[in-house]
Amino acid sequence: MGEGRKDKNKMKILLLGSGGREHAFAWKLTQSPLCEKLFIAPGNAGTLQHGENVAIGVNDFDAIEKFVLENEIDLVVVGPEDPLVNGIYDYFLSKAELKNIPVIGPSKTGAQLEGSKAFAKQFMVRHHIPTAAYGEFTIENLEDGFDFIDEQTPPIVLKADGLAAGKGVLIIEEHGEAKENLREMIEQNKFGKASAKVVIEEFLKGIEFSVFVLTDGVDYKILPNAKDYKRIGEGDTGLNTGGMGCISPVPFVDAALMRKVEERVVIPTIEGLKKDNIVYRGFIYIGFMNVDGEPHVIEYNCRMGDPETEIVLPRIKNDLVELLVAVGNGTLAKENIEIDERACATVIVASGGYPRDYEKGKEITGIASVGSSSEQGNTIVFHAGTKRDGDKVLTNGGRVLAVTSYGKDIHEAVATSNAAIEKINFEGKYYRKDIGYEFR
Ligand code: AMP
Ligand code: GLY
Repeated sequence: MGEGRKDKNKMKILLLGSGGREHAFAWKLTQSPLCEKLFIAPGNAGTLQHGENVAIGVNDFDAIEKFVLENEIDLVVVGPEDPLVNGIYDYFLSKAELKNIPVIGPSKTGAQLEGSKAFAKQFMVRHHIPTAAYGEFTIENLEDGFDFIDEQTPPIVLKADGLAAGKGVLIIEEHGEAKENLREMIEQNKFGKASAKVVIEEFLKGIEFSVFVLTDGVDYKILPNAKDYKRIGEGDTGLNTGGMGCISPVPFVDAALMRKVEERVVIPTIEGLKKDNIVYRGFIYIGFMNVDGEPHVIEYNCRMGDPETEIVLPRIKNDLVELLVAVGNGTLAKENIEIDERACATVIVASGGYPRDYEKGKEITGIASVGSSSEQGNTIVFHAGTKRDGDKVLTNGGRVLAVTSYGKDIHEAVATSNAAIEKINFEGKYYRKDIGYEFR
């Protein structure tokens, strides 16, 4: 891909998605002199500050094809996992008129690293990448699954094989309850088709962190690391969410740990993709458990994280369009990643009730007093679940805003975001004030 487009300097870019991640991408892509025009499908009230929102769903490949051809799009950047797992990369490759337009993201098979936990585990075992010991079970060997559970020391980790919107992982203290849940997952479709197959894993005790890799399938660049806070309540209590905030860099992730990450995981992953003939040109998000200084892979995602993108991209000084063009052309080796020395934190402002039921359509005030995403102060307000209504901005989701700040360290960055959030209001506003708490 990419051939024949290299002589054109200015690019029209289509970005797929509508969350805080996509606002951060829009903010960063449009800083590039190479970006002539950005379209976001479907976007939110924040992406509107940087381009034109188009009412097309991320999985509507026919509508995306028509739009790309009519608007002479030169580059497609995919935010969420769904279109990747559904094969948008292969769809473009299969069409004569689309195949020269780079799609940033893996092939359908590559996206299985996120789309199937069993696929990811088999890949890691095949390429000797450190991860928890596991077994995989379906209706065919359910009884073996019960025996496997009996052999585990609790807590027992059950994972639906397929995509389950971040809800498909259960961590259970007791053998009987684990068996009951295994039965419900496999026999009663507890997570729909996603749990027809279940991966059961050894429990790893440690602290999590995330590493992001950009690859053109030949070379790779390691991007700033991050740690996210998934629970709704302070002190990591309560229900799991899509993420309530995150920090970068992660204090305990030192050069020695990163060397292990690179040698034992990143290089074998890139080499493994090559050996298996899996086409992968995009971002890889690797979730780790640090077990006494030894990094183990918990999961792969075939995309950037949300809210991780809202701190990773602000810490990258490079022209992002230039990097993504290099990914499309297979020339990433020539690029040097430059990282901002400052720390970054983002704090999610959520609708009251999230991740359970919450109301939408509340007017948001005060964003302008903090600084919009087009300004370059210490704080950037990225929109997640928002929509524009005339000159008002309304809440339109559980996670409403991601307020990112720079600081000399993560604590200063968090304090700056928290102070900014005090100036922003909507009915039911909720945020965690303790992001980064365990490193104080
Ligand atoms: P995943 O969707 O695979 O990232 O799992 C969701 C969360 O479950 C992770 O972020 C971890 O907090 C936890 N988890 C997953 N696998 C394990 C494991 N093998 N040991 C301990 N915790 C785990
Ligand atoms: N913040 C977690 C994710 O994007 O998967």
